[in-house]
Amino acid sequence: MTDTKKREDTHTADELGSRSDHSNHSEKEHRARASGASNDTNEKLMAVNMVERSFPVGGSTLHVLKGIQMDIKPRQLVMLKGRSGSGKTTLLNCLGGLDTPSKGEIWFNGLPFSKMSDDERTLVRRREMGFIFQAFALMPLLSAYENVELSLRMAGKPRSEWKKRVEECLELVGLAKRMHHRPFELSGGEQQRVAIAKSIAHRPILLLADEPTAELDTAMSAQIMSVFQNIIETENVSICMTTHDPTIMEVADHVYEMVDGKFI
Ligand SMILES: Nc1ncnc2c1ncn2[C@@H]1O[C@H](COP(=O)(O)OP(=O)(O)OP(=O)(O)O)[C@@H](O)[C@H]1O
Ligand SMILES: [Mg+2]
Repeated sequence: MTDTKKREDTHTADELGSRSDHSNHSEKEHRARASGASNDTNEKLMAVNMVERSFPVGGSTLHVLKGIQMDIKPRQLVMLKGRSGSGKTTLLNCLGGLDTPSKGEIWFNGLPFSKMSDDERTLVRRREMGFIFQAFALMPLLSAYENVELSLRMAGKPRSEWKKRVEECLELVGLAKRMHHRPFELSGGEQQRVAIAKSIAHRPILLLADEPTAELDTAMSAQIMSVFQNIIETENVSICMTTHDPTIMEVADHVYEMVDGKFI
């Protein structure tokens, strides 16, 4: 599509509304976009600038995030660690536009993400981001194939592209042979791999994962991490995830440790 380049150069709100043909971008164009961005190692896919988030609780204010500074670069695997209640999920929700900071700003792919309208942010989130949760989030009555297909349907991708892309994504996570199994016929690790296939099917440039290995044993967690490393290479995505597991942190490009609403 002709607006591929324009997307990186100018990011006006009006333009967002004209991006409905994004779904027609070819794989080649998408890769060019992502690898173009990664030529400059200083380039940031996401920049978080002095972000605060507080909640009104019973007449007072609970300050959860207190001036977060962070960057996510193209094709980076970034991890957030910190004690329970330290604010990791709160931050991840802001990064994914499911919540907005009380102060500070978040830039995503050159867009003032945290300052955009809810509708604009939703559009960007649907097109450019993928989400993975602790509890797999699959539709129980649909097969692995149908679960991944559903995400392409929801993203408005042309029907003619579904089959090839679904098979490609399931292949990528090593589940081509389990394609027609439903979630209850799969192990926890396999279900999470289907959830990963589902989250990347629409070709996002950023994946956000909240404790994606928390319900898995060590061997399955290691499998998930090798799938993550594989998709960073083959799909040109960046991944930001939370974890409590020190062995998993070894594969991170960068670990941010949250203490009392700030990184140390
Ligand atoms: N909507 C909300 N209203 C009030 N307080 C909230 C809200 N969301 C989160 N909090 C509070 O913010 C703090 C951080 O919560 P958060 O879920 O971000 O922690 P976490 O680091 O993800 O913890 P865990 O490791 O247990 O998942 C908690 O004290 C929580 O009670
Ligand atoms: Mg959490």
